[in-house]
Amino acid sequence: MSGNLATVSYIGATILFILSLGGLSNPESSRRGNLFGMIGMAIAVLATVFGPRVTAAGYPWIIGAMVVGGAVGLYAAKVVKMTQMPELVALMHSLVGLAACLVGYASYIDTSNPLVGAEKSIHEMEIYIGILIGAVTFSGSLIAFGKLSGKIGGSPMLLPGRHWMNLAGLLVVIWFGREFINAHSIADGMTPLVVMTVIALLFGIHMVMAIGGADMPVVVSMLNSYSGWAAAATGFMLSNDLLIVVGALVGSSGAILSYIMCRAMNRNFISVIAGGFGTGGGTPAAKGDAAAPAGEVAPISAAETAELLKEAKSVIIVPGYGMAVAQAQHTVYEITKHLREKGVNIRFGIHPVAGRMPGHMNVLLAEAKVPYDIVMEMDELNDDFPDTDVAMVIGANDIVNPAAQDDPTSPIAGMPVLEVWKAKTSIVMKRSMASGYAGVDNPLFYKENNRMLFGDAKKMLDEVLVALKS
Ligand code: TAP
Repeated sequence: MSGNLATVSYIGATILFILSLGGLSNPESSRRGNLFGMIGMAIAVLATVFGPRVTAAGYPWIIGAMVVGGAVGLYAAKVVKMTQMPELVALMHSLVGLAACLVGYASYIDTSNPLVGAEKSIHEMEIYIGILIGAVTFSGSLIAFGKLSGKIGGSPMLLPGRHWMNLAGLLVVIWFGREFINAHSIADGMTPLVVMTVIALLFGIHMVMAIGGADMPVVVSMLNSYSGWAAAATGFMLSNDLLIVVGALVGSSGAILSYIMCRAMNRNFISVIAGGFGTGGGTPAAKGDAAAPAGEVAPISAAETAELLKEAKSVIIVPGYGMAVAQAQHTVYEITKHLREKGVNIRFGIHPVAGRMPGHMNVLLAEAKVPYDIVMEMDELNDDFPDTDVAMVIGANDIVNPAAQDDPTSPIAGMPVLEVWKAKTSIVMKRSMASGYAGVDNPLFYKENNRMLFGDAKKMLDEVLVALKS
């Protein structure tokens, strides 16, 4: 393939990637967006492999790598459960970081195209910054993987003087950067490069370890952004324009997503990075974190839930992580269909951080064929709860916690939540009284108009559906 054809293919792939991002911004156009992305990536890979910079001697290596990588990818896509998706995404981000580091080292020791003067310095700067971003992304994403999969506890690890440690690390990295650029030989430059890589790896670990469970949504999107910048840095090192553009697209869209996540949690980005927000997931909050709710909970049966739904004119369903665990979305759809046929106004309220990854609930509901026009963002229907007969909370916890509004000492104070308690009756479906990901108690469970439907969400909803149809 000639150089010109490769450039035209790259421009075509870039346009397809932009169209893909545009498509992914709306559930209705997201399939098309995915298709554009896939075609764009196929064109990008083919144009690179058959482009002017790859010689025939490289083909066996490329084909071998693609077969191994493709097989691992196919296997992962087949066996990974929907609830493990966030961990998989974190793991993939770590691979982008690792690739940037490896390309950086390879590019440094490659002497086939010697550069001199300013060009050499610029190339070395690209290598240094590329490896820096790559190493932070690699180790940070591995820790995020550990936290999201529960292999590492969610509590923030707050070392004494941690901000000073980070600052000292930054100064050392800058100093060694100077040493690296001034090095007279590859052997001389290797020491500063390795020292910087180790510091960057430690910084990535330290940064994500210091972030508390409740801030993980921001971490996921932040690492997504970093992986984009790592790819862009790799593009600079390899002088590959497409990689620069695509990396910048991923980096900037990840940054915008981080901003949206911060806003959804009423947090600012700097305090997220500074860390320490929220405790470990899945266990009741430590005493003294917030006022423990008091009172008794009122259980309800599946049959009674069905009775309430039969009498209701308007229903709002709030899905959360538990719906993903139980894989209850298909039964949720059946119930929705049944109630809609009976003329009930039924809608879904989606919190921006519901589940464990951005858009988690939208993906599940789309998979179950729930119509997009009844799936609303939190802001679109939060004012409608007072006019709602039944608010059904399916496996959600933190995102419906009134303590976020009422208790300034709560670890999630200030986070906007879905105000389900303002409905005539709220029903919370979960297996026990355990807390959600942020590890805080939920006073909603004790409210007078709240009922608890204990059990696995799928099993309970199946029973509700049978009772509704009888
Ligand atoms: P959570 O607060 O984590 O609550 C989920 C609830 O589902 C749990 O309390 C659990 O209670 C219940 N559950 C689990 N398995 C169940 C099953 N099989 N059947 C019925 N219920 C089940 O979820 P949420 O309300 O969706 O809030 C999301 C949380 O995750 C937030 O704190 C958010 O910050 C965090 N987070 C979000 C993201 C993104 S990007 N969305 C990323 C990382 C972290 P039982 O154990 O009693 O059943």
